[in-house]
Amino acid sequence: MNSLKEILINKKICKSVWFMRQAGRYLPEFREIRSQNQDFINLCLNSELSSKITLQPIERFNLDSAIIFSDILMVPHALNQKVEFLKNHGPKLENFDLENFLKNDYLKFTDKLKPVYKAIEITRKKLNKEKSLISFIGAPWTLLVYMVGAKQNKNEIDLKIINKKKDEIELILKKLINYLCLHIENQVKAGADVVQIFDSWAGSIPKKDLNNFCYLPNYKIVEFCKKKDIPVICFPRGIKENYKDFNSLVKPNGINIDYTVDPNWAKENLKDTVIQGGLDPKILLLSDEEIYINARKYLDAFKDLPYVFNLGHGMLPETNPDKVDKLIKFYREY
Ligand code: CP3
Repeated sequence: MNSLKEILINKKICKSVWFMRQAGRYLPEFREIRSQNQDFINLCLNSELSSKITLQPIERFNLDSAIIFSDILMVPHALNQKVEFLKNHGPKLENFDLENFLKNDYLKFTDKLKPVYKAIEITRKKLNKEKSLISFIGAPWTLLVYMVGAKQNKNEIDLKIINKKKDEIELILKKLINYLCLHIENQVKAGADVVQIFDSWAGSIPKKDLNNFCYLPNYKIVEFCKKKDIPVICFPRGIKENYKDFNSLVKPNGINIDYTVDPNWAKENLKDTVIQGGLDPKILLLSDEEIYINARKYLDAFKDLPYVFNLGHGMLPETNPDKVDKLIKFYREY
């Protein structure tokens, strides 16, 4: 069994490191492929290239896990809502149309995502058996934020759009759960061995709605994974002290803490679940010494516990890959 699964399933205390957005713009070898592939969705649907990009950080840093190169927004794409990635603008989705959304069916959904599953198959064959291949989904709330156009700019979510039509929102979330479970099952059948659920915008949910919009949808997907013996890691970014309730209600195998969560608080309050990540990706822009001091905070806090080394959000595009190399060496020698 590979190290990530040993930690998540058997709670073994051993080393395992990977980084969110480990395949991406900070790598010159990614930028080279990207410069020849202007359409990001088409790049994600190119199974050979997607597999190649997935393996780039493994070849460079010998990380313990690969995460398939794809995007959480491939799901709205497969649900027939047009998704575009405009330069320096982030994702742009076609206006949401409930009637069209409800016309989708599972067979066509799977069909549209076949290239992603093919990329997983290719990658699993090339990847050393000692390493995990991580698949992922966006949590229903986070996908909904993009699908209904509630994301205003870099860090603001417009709740007005959502508050106006609460019944509709509940319906969309319910339908999304089914498609997301299917996407997980398809990825695992293709060869993925762990799944991570990114709830990147969970922090924008008012406390009174956390249960319906965050805990419950994550719980249903985690239950599905447990029934199928799929190890699952949740990342409800930005929910602060509510990480505690999230963890005791949803009970995933692993929970990724964001960089605002204190590692010692997490150790006390997120018992029985494997903790992953935490280190602020901005730290990688600082001096070597500062990188080591900050990494040590997490490694000291979790040294007697099963812990997966990772970041508290995705790697920033301006990160120097040499710093990543140094951080990994520091971790291995710690
Ligand atoms: O982690 C990995 O290496 C695997 C691949 C991966 C990507 N996106 C590739 C990508 C994963 C796991 C994601 C998840 C994702 N995508 C999330 C959840 C994590 C998070 O960051 O909160 C979200 C919210 C998205 C949606 C998305 N995709 C945005 C907002 C953007 C544009 C801005 C940005 O942060 O880059 C993307 C594009 C994207 N997805 C890129 C990559 C490598 C950059 C594409 C490019 O311009 O070259």
